[in-house]
Amino acid sequence: MKRTPLIAGNWKMFKTCSEAVETAKRLAELTQNITDMDIMIAPSFTSLVLVSESLKNINSLINIGAQNLFYHKEGAYTGEISAAMLKSAGVSYVIIGHSERRQYFGETNEDVCRKIRASIESNIVPIMCIGETETEKKEEKTLYVLDKQIENGLKGFRSNELATLVIAYEPVWAIGTGNTATPEQAEEVHRYIRSKIEKMFDLNLAENMRILYGGSVKPDNISELMSHENIDGALVGGASLDVNNFIKIVNFNK
Ligand code: PGA
Repeated sequence: MKRTPLIAGNWKMFKTCSEAVETAKRLAELTQNITDMDIMIAPSFTSLVLVSESLKNINSLINIGAQNLFYHKEGAYTGEISAAMLKSAGVSYVIIGHSERRQYFGETNEDVCRKIRASIESNIVPIMCIGETETEKKEEKTLYVLDKQIENGLKGFRSNELATLVIAYEPVWAIGTGNTATPEQAEEVHRYIRSKIEKMFDLNLAENMRILYGGSVKPDNISELMSHENIDGALVGGASLDVNNFIKIVNFNK
């Protein structure tokens, strides 16, 4: 089964507007001929419009992602941003339920579910992040935690509504720590996630769904990760901030 790889950069709370535009433009120049995969960068909200406008002029293949959204269409929700607002800013992907949002901002699987629905309704590709903490891993609860995140995050959806959904498996103990899961560990979990999607929905959705790995992905571990059947790409944090590092990750198969 051939799925188009997706290499996604999560810039988190880094880069001012000018820094974001500069990085994005440089990246766009270096990726102009890459057509065999999808590339996404997720700058902060304040840079989204500027980055997407600046890439239009250079005919870039890079997709713009947001790091979050709020599920209501509009209303008195100070500080929040809707899917339609993101769409109008040139966004085509959105990261949902990142562990930092779950951990520091109290996001629940129910929030994740509503956010996925909102993004799909606005034709934005949702990247649903799931993953166990270090304690949960030590207590051998990884699969239990993933089950709950998947079951509740995707509650009430029909298979055809989830055709674009991307899942990112990001073990929390591997994020920003330098401790990557071994490619074999990641592959095993990805295989489990795919079988879970098949059980909850159907084989076709499971086979076509892209499952990314995230957590200390670097130029020197990406090729091995990507050599595994069920690893369809990466969600990259720290190593996506620097163009030279990110481009090496994008070029994992060169
Ligand atoms: P990292 O972050 O690559 O810096 O570990 C990954 C992520 O948080 O998406």
